[in-house]
Amino acid sequence: MNATPSATRATPAVSAAPAALLAVYSRVGPRFVRGDGAELIAEDGARFLDFTAGLAVNALGYNHRVVRETMEQALSTGLIHVSNLYCTEPGERLAEELVARSFADRVFLCNSGAEANEAAFKFARKWSGKTEIVAFSGSFHGRLFATLAATDRPEYRKPFEPLVPSIRIVPREDWAAVDHAVSASRTAAVIVEPVQGEGGVRPVDPEWLGFVRELCDSRGVAVIFDEVQCGLGRTGTLFAYEQTGIVPDLLTLAKPLAGGLPMGAVLLRDAIATALKPGDHATTFGGGPLVSSVALAVVQTIADPDFLAQVRSKGEWLGARLAALAARRPRVREARGRGLMWGLELTEPAAPFVTAARERGLLILTAGTNVLRLVPPLVITPEELERGTVVLEAVLA
Ligand SMILES: Cc1ncc(COP(=O)(O)O)c(C=O)c1O
Repeated sequence: MNATPSATRATPAVSAAPAALLAVYSRVGPRFVRGDGAELIAEDGARFLDFTAGLAVNALGYNHRVVRETMEQALSTGLIHVSNLYCTEPGERLAEELVARSFADRVFLCNSGAEANEAAFKFARKWSGKTEIVAFSGSFHGRLFATLAATDRPEYRKPFEPLVPSIRIVPREDWAAVDHAVSASRTAAVIVEPVQGEGGVRPVDPEWLGFVRELCDSRGVAVIFDEVQCGLGRTGTLFAYEQTGIVPDLLTLAKPLAGGLPMGAVLLRDAIATALKPGDHATTFGGGPLVSSVALAVVQTIADPDFLAQVRSKGEWLGARLAALAARRPRVREARGRGLMWGLELTEPAAPFVTAARERGLLILTAGTNVLRLVPPLVITPEELERGTVVLEAVLA
């Protein structure tokens, strides 16, 4: 590992708990002051190879030329924000780009993944005239009130019960359970991540997805794909749905969309969009000129066929390397993933290995209790992938 000595010492610099910030995060490790490509640089100069990409946000890594220059150009207009009472060009161009590259006819722009999912729930309810939302075990759709009710994490849900009614979670890939849960008279939408992220990096069975699609078609129920984590190039295609053979009615995006600026989006078909009229939904900041300019540049960069081909080839290399690692290390039960989104399921809790990797200059994540999650920037180099897997191999020994 090419980390500086300070990143490899037994006890790395740990910043003091930030007293003025609400303590809803357990922050760890050093305080970062700069970023460069796939690396984060700490106060003491130590460099960390980042296989977390800011929780799957920094697809173009840190300090990417396109993001920086687009932001500078957008700022030179003096327009960071203009309200949605008026027209501005960047949001319109971004929506056109997303429509041109997907199944969708319309786009709603907002500020985060949970917001995008909440909006999708409202749109499906308004279109269908029904109320229930069906989500699946292992799902993570956000922590606002409706999305928390669709998120299968008891520890996040319990303190806030009772949750929003009419949202149920049923077993994933259980054909009978979904058949039973999706009702022609009550269900407005099902929501599913084509590759579950927080739930353990699980690509969902496309055959079962096809069954859900047919069921929903025959019962007048909308299919929402949550691609907040797995979308926008992460799995090697611009949208993860392209690899499933199933096309949703609504699709939500966020994390990497605006190069690290907060942004979410709902992509939807006209059949649903026409049910919405002015006043049905809104957000003050959604689709402002600065974030939209950056998002347009990010989407165009990621959608480049050469860029996506590189994600796929780096992903294949990483997948093969992790499968070999799983075969050699008895504590690794399985390696699974797509593109540059991988999970290593362990036979024991994963958190101690996150700490051990950080002490050797590599940042990785967990996904649930026993799974290590790797979501490096999509611009990571093959050499950096190699360096990271060497550290992983060592900490899992
Ligand atoms: C699949 C998925 N949906 C929704 C969300 C929520 O996004 P946000 O944190 O931007 O609200 C996340 C966040 O991790 C996610 O992974």
